[in-house]
Amino acid sequence: MKQKKQVEAAGNGTFGSKWGFVLACVGSAVGLGNIWLFPYRLGQYGGAAFLIPYLLFIFLFGYVGLSAEFGIGRMARTGTLGAYETCWKDAKFPGGGKLGWIPLIGSLGIATGYAIIIGWVLRSLFGSLSGDLFQMQSGAYFSQATGNFGSIFWHIIILSIALLILFTDSVVRIERVSKILMPVFFLLFTFLAVRVFFLQGALEGYRFLFIPKWESLLQLETWVMAMGQAFFTLSITGSGMIVYGAYLDRKEDIVKASLQTSVFDTLAALLSALAIMPAVFAFGIQPTAGPSLMFLVIPDIFRQIAFGRVFACIFFFSVLLAGITSLINMFEAVIESLQHKHKISRKTAAFISVALSFVIGVFLENEVNVGKFMDFITILVVPFGAVFGAVSIYYILGMNKIEDELNCGRTKKLPKHYAVVAKYVYVPITILIFILGIIYKGIG
Ligand code: PFF
Repeated sequence: MKQKKQVEAAGNGTFGSKWGFVLACVGSAVGLGNIWLFPYRLGQYGGAAFLIPYLLFIFLFGYVGLSAEFGIGRMARTGTLGAYETCWKDAKFPGGGKLGWIPLIGSLGIATGYAIIIGWVLRSLFGSLSGDLFQMQSGAYFSQATGNFGSIFWHIIILSIALLILFTDSVVRIERVSKILMPVFFLLFTFLAVRVFFLQGALEGYRFLFIPKWESLLQLETWVMAMGQAFFTLSITGSGMIVYGAYLDRKEDIVKASLQTSVFDTLAALLSALAIMPAVFAFGIQPTAGPSLMFLVIPDIFRQIAFGRVFACIFFFSVLLAGITSLINMFEAVIESLQHKHKISRKTAAFISVALSFVIGVFLENEVNVGKFMDFITILVVPFGAVFGAVSIYYILGMNKIEDELNCGRTKKLPKHYAVVAKYVYVPITILIFILGIIYKGIG
């Protein structure tokens, strides 16, 4: 007998293949965090030694964190808001599920800040193409776009691209886009890493990245930063990954897919380190992170390399791909929840989500404003969402139900230790991340 067709989440269709799903999730995971934060942290917090806590946390969060978010999405057949309703419906306080609005606001919040920053990336790409970026100091070029209402044009283009991808009846377009953009990203960054290898003086960069400074493992901050980085990079926010899980077929092995997503995300982070830091050192520049690395240091490097303009185009184009695939995941969470809550069409929901993001974001285009806004979202809202997700799944819904879901599609049942690790290691760690983020003013 033919298997009963599964119910589709909000009528948005399902991912057509396991690899389509994994690549869409890799698309979400690989973003600015991999490119402008990981390379610096790797070198700064102990080189190869940093990889020990980092990989440990990636494995832990991939194994029990991502799996849980995919699992609850698939079980509920709906995204953020609906999934929390499912978790809380038999609880003493079913109204607790309403707190699901917080992670959803987190998704909209990161999307809003991200869209502005990726707008700057697009502008730098065009500046590289036209040569404008090389006509003046990178600081001067960058500051043209970072005042009040300084990048409306680029901001609108980015949101339009996101809308173009999302404005359909089905998520199949997200899958198709990810299946093309992610491999292209890996290919181009590999090419850059190889080019950088041949720069004179690049060796210092490899030393910075990989010579293990074991003593850093004795510092608390190393572990805190590895933990925060691993968490943010896997997009564990109690929101975006839930909605992708909602579109996954029951015959797929979620735990395996989560680990595959984590592996590709880690490869992307390492590749970024190899493409960026050796070049930074080859030109005797102090390593740094964030916008100053991306918009000041990197253009200065390309300025000094033969065919630098071509490489700059390749670089900013790749960052654009990584950014857009993360952006569409955050919007997807908002869209699906709007559909679920208000029974509106996907296209209407897509338009509302993107428009809302623009209306908020247009007042944040100033670099200082967007910085403060992103701090608020990534230090308070998103980590709270992650804690809420973890607690809702493992404590409120309960271990038995989520394990049943995760066992669907597996040949071997989950090992006994899974429940212990999830409940007594992972959930407390999410709470710790929330607290440490506040103490350190941001760790992810
Ligand atoms: N994982 C992305 C990065 O490392 O840049 C950030 C991110 C994307 C966080 C999507 C949350 C999200 F929903």
